[in-house]
Amino acid sequence: MRIYSRILGTGSYLPEKRLTNADLAAELAHQGVETSDDWIVERTGIRARHFAADAQGSSDLATEAARRALTAAGISAEELDLIIVATSTPDMVFPSVATMVQHKLGTAGCPAFDVQAVCSGFIYALTIADSMIQSGSAKRALVIGSEVFSRILDFKDRTTCVLFGDGAGAVILEAADKPGILATDLHADGKHKDILCVPGHVNRGGILGDPVLKMDGQAVFKLAVGVLEETARASLAKANLTDADIDWLIPHQANIRIMQSTAKKLKLSADKVVVTVDQHGNTSAASIPLALDTAVRDGRIQRGQTLMLEGVGGGFTWGSVLLRY
Ligand code: ACO
Repeated sequence: MRIYSRILGTGSYLPEKRLTNADLAAELAHQGVETSDDWIVERTGIRARHFAADAQGSSDLATEAARRALTAAGISAEELDLIIVATSTPDMVFPSVATMVQHKLGTAGCPAFDVQAVCSGFIYALTIADSMIQSGSAKRALVIGSEVFSRILDFKDRTTCVLFGDGAGAVILEAADKPGILATDLHADGKHKDILCVPGHVNRGGILGDPVLKMDGQAVFKLAVGVLEETARASLAKANLTDADIDWLIPHQANIRIMQSTAKKLKLSADKVVVTVDQHGNTSAASIPLALDTAVRDGRIQRGQTLMLEGVGGGFTWGSVLLRY
């Protein structure tokens, strides 16, 4: 009998410090950087974002999200047999955030590793966990997206620093005899590395290159809109479904205009798109599980509904997961 994976519970965590656009604009003004609530809302849909406290790392945010997902799933950390964390902002070069989360949850023994696919990271991590469950090598997986992008922003560059925020989202996946995850679709094309990157790296005890985010916004926009439609259609085709079968589109929360444009291409009305970018900003690998958990907890997403999760990010990487909740 074929094994599927299904979502047993979701959780998320946002750090306490919340900055509205006006708060951020006031902080930036002290450094001679000019921006406004109007500009940010009009171009991106973002109204506020959360920033982690100095003492908080990705593993702290991830652990909080994981605890909430475990509670929602009604299981304990000892019952997990796989932990995957999607992040591009780990606490350290190594060890992985996943092993830190495992320890903070008070468990040990099961495999734990990080996946680095930037804003598509959660889609990659969910796909790997689904494959491991389908193959029988795991039964209960914790899959997390966690980021502290505030650490890699250049607060003198107004074209990027207004876009991102910190947070974490998590799901518990478990083996089931019915789907669950219906189809997955992953892609990458490394030729686009320069349009979105953090070029700095640790080298012989120092940092070589600029360790802050660089982005060609318009190039990212064009690429994102095209591949998000393609990957959604690829997952639908694999599952023999059509865009009319989608109850909720849960896209990576980068920019409201990218999300609206993808929804239009999939002939979905705006009220079928889960939008959290207005309150969270772009939280990279955390954005999809944060949006998912938000809509599960506020009652919009119901058991039995069909969800399209999709992401695109640096690399470039992109992909989608179609599932029955
Ligand atoms: N406040 C005020 N003015 C600004 C700001 C700001 N924060 N940022 C840029 N401007 C100014 C520019 O200096 C420019 O001024 P000028 O005309 O006098 O030269 C003007 O606004 C227009 O700048 P553009 O860069 O052309 O603005 P654009 O309309 O392209 O919007 C944006 C920029 C929002 C980044 C857009 O390109 C975009 O949404 N791109 C998608 C990128 C994205 O979402 N990235 C997220 C990470 S990638 C991912 O998650 C997949």
